[in-house]
Amino acid sequence: MILAGRDLAIEEFTAALAGNVPEARAILISGARGSGKTVLLTEFRELALEAGWIDLRMHTSSTSLVEELRGQAIAHLRELDPEAETSRLTSARISSLSASRDIVQRYDGEGEVLSTVLDRLAQLADEDGGGLLITLDELQSVDRDQLHALTQHVQDLIGSGHAVAFIAAGVRPGVDALLDHERTTFLRRAHRIEVGSVDVGTAAETIRMTIADTTRSITPEAAVLAGEISCGYPYLIQLIGSKAWQRSGDADTIEIEDVRASRDAVVAAMIKNVHGPALRGLSPRKREYLHAMLEDEGPSAVGDIARRMGIDPRNQSTYRERLIEEELIRPAGRGFVEFSLPYLADALHHEARTGVGADVEPDRGVRRSHRGRRGPRP
Ligand SMILES: Nc1ncnc2c1ncn2[C@@H]1O[C@H](COP(=O)(O)OP(=O)(O)O)[C@@H](O)[C@H]1O
Ligand SMILES: [Mg+2]
Repeated sequence: MILAGRDLAIEEFTAALAGNVPEARAILISGARGSGKTVLLTEFRELALEAGWIDLRMHTSSTSLVEELRGQAIAHLRELDPEAETSRLTSARISSLSASRDIVQRYDGEGEVLSTVLDRLAQLADEDGGGLLITLDELQSVDRDQLHALTQHVQDLIGSGHAVAFIAAGVRPGVDALLDHERTTFLRRAHRIEVGSVDVGTAAETIRMTIADTTRSITPEAAVLAGEISCGYPYLIQLIGSKAWQRSGDADTIEIEDVRASRDAVVAAMIKNVHGPALRGLSPRKREYLHAMLEDEGPSAVGDIARRMGIDPRNQSTYRERLIEEELIRPAGRGFVEFSLPYLADALHHEARTGVGADVEPDRGVRRSHRGRRGPRP
């Protein structure tokens, strides 16, 4: 319930909903796995619903985005449109009290063209002081032509002067490839939000506040250590918090030992859920590049990497660029690179020990912590 480091994005979106700058309402959220894209998208949706907007949620897994759009729009219209159901007098005699009527469902069947349906829904939303929000998560897996068809409808609605917001979210490599395509101009012009790590202090405060909302608490030192272990990475903020919570058993206060004892399980989960999928499809050369970086404590000099790989420094830059695009490494000053996400070095060491793609020893069982077992409590 506590969001770390998203104040600015939320303020901007709130302003975009209230204002009338259509461009500010086309948003593309990108970032690595576990960086908080879905959480932010969901927060935006909640803000829009609160402001009286209508939410149409598209899924990249659906066979046709446009059909899904139609289905959802019609479902809303059935509820909202006062003219969705019209009754037609079929036979009535003036002298008689009895008349028979047919109920006609305006949105039954395939009768209405999608743009008409959307136009009607947007109009009803406008009249209510809201608008239409269309969201699409996991954008990297979308079919390009379907995306094009969907965004055409969005653009038409905007062109007709309706209040429309479109928010998509996806992982960087997939999204960047998509944006290179000529039919995705609409998204290329969208307002881009890169989500990622927050500072460690903010992470610690987020953990503290989240626990303070419950009947339990966490000591300041424990919160600081939890923040440090999370490295400010959203997925890890949540994970270290919940693992330490579990470890503390039914104690009222989460202590520093609970946090310390949770570290290994958190790193294992990060390797399995974030790094595993990212490393799986990596070419041998790119993998070698990452392994060549392991010798350094901090950032690696690209010249050293090339030397360790036994390649010409100029050839090194191709791998460097691609690994940066894939968000595995990032520049760290002139001629230096470093891993972009926490515990990637641990993931590579793990890979070196157990083989590529091997599973991390799963975290098993539920146990009462030493503190939970200690002595009777009042
Ligand atoms: N701003 C945030 N503050 C605190 N925790 C967050 C934040 N954003 C995400 N999280 C945590 O990280 C986890 C992963 O976030 P999610 O949005 O699912 O990532 P993504 O969609 O980028 O893969 C969530 O379950 C949530 O607990
Ligand atoms: Mg997600």
